[in-house]
Amino acid sequence: MDNTYTQNVPSVGLGTYNMTSEEAELLTYESLKHGYRHIDTAAVYKNENGVAKGLEKFLDKSDLKRENIFITTKLWPGGLVKVDRIKDYTGTVKSFEKSLMRLNLDYIDLYLIHSPHGKNKRLDQWRALVDLKDSGKIKYIGVSNWGVNHLSELKDNNLPMPDANQIELHPWSQKHELVKFLRNENIDIIAYSSLVPLSTWRHKDGENSKKTDEMYEIGLSENSPFKILANKYNVTEAQFLLKWAVQQNFAILPKSIDVNRMKENFNLDFIIDNQDMEYIKTMDKGNSITWEYGDPLQVK
Ligand SMILES: NC(=O)c1ccc[n+]([C@@H]2O[C@H](COP(=O)([O-])OP(=O)(O)OC[C@H]3O[C@@H](n4cnc5c(N)ncnc54)[C@H](OP(=O)(O)O)[C@@H]3O)[C@@H](O)[C@H]2O)c1
Repeated sequence: MDNTYTQNVPSVGLGTYNMTSEEAELLTYESLKHGYRHIDTAAVYKNENGVAKGLEKFLDKSDLKRENIFITTKLWPGGLVKVDRIKDYTGTVKSFEKSLMRLNLDYIDLYLIHSPHGKNKRLDQWRALVDLKDSGKIKYIGVSNWGVNHLSELKDNNLPMPDANQIELHPWSQKHELVKFLRNENIDIIAYSSLVPLSTWRHKDGENSKKTDEMYEIGLSENSPFKILANKYNVTEAQFLLKWAVQQNFAILPKSIDVNRMKENFNLDFIIDNQDMEYIKTMDKGNSITWEYGDPLQVK
């Protein structure tokens, strides 16, 4: 797969949620060696230092330079539980500086507000990101899990719109209205949890999943529509689901701790025909299913 970009973001990035620091170090290194140029982490994943080590090891051995690699990390906005204080402007800048330090970098390519649940401090957090971008410490600023209502607040306050919004997107949660809004506003769309319909998606003990048993069973069935479609294109179900996103110009962030799967997820050289793309439109079940704050409609 060649490394295409949406507008600002490389189309295929490595997701690192649920990776330990050691796993993030290994997979960052191996994925960059394999051709990935984008790594997605977050303060709350607690593995930014692993990403830093993997990146450093890769750059030491490669002709590529820091500026050839795209690193995304995210501000945890705070406020979910009492001890988790909502970050104000200063708290946001401090959090950013900590991520920068853990990543051992002097700038971040894309810095996102992880979710809109920072409520009345959301605009302060955004103003801090705008100023950090102006200072050159961040190339692109964005949000994650923000809906039309949250994005409209920025407009109402004469603030710049984000460069990107990272949202849960897969055939079971297609968010047509939000996608249309983002396209109209020229905001890059980054799809996460593309592999939700797979039976192997977060199926290990302790992995956070809100999938119902029925959803897991669809993935296991020999008649799963994705098995049938994948067979038609002679690819795996994972490749089919990832291509569905890339073909719509969504950037993707497949996560795997298995080097062979990581390689498979990067190999997307085929085209899904229009008829099948139309058929998938009928599979939308609506809301997000990974975590409650992953659903823009649930956060006021
Ligand atoms: N902004 C947000 O709120 C948010 C929320 C969720 C995720 N994200 C980002 O998006 C990334 C991706 O989302 P995700 O971690 O939910 O899941 P994902 O990439 O959709 O799927 C990962 C799951 O599928 C399995 N898998 C990966 N490749 C596979 C393959 N080729 N065949 C079969 N199974 C495969 C993985 O298991 P193994 O690891 O065992 O291979 C893991 O259980 C995250 O890592 C994170 O960077 C952001």
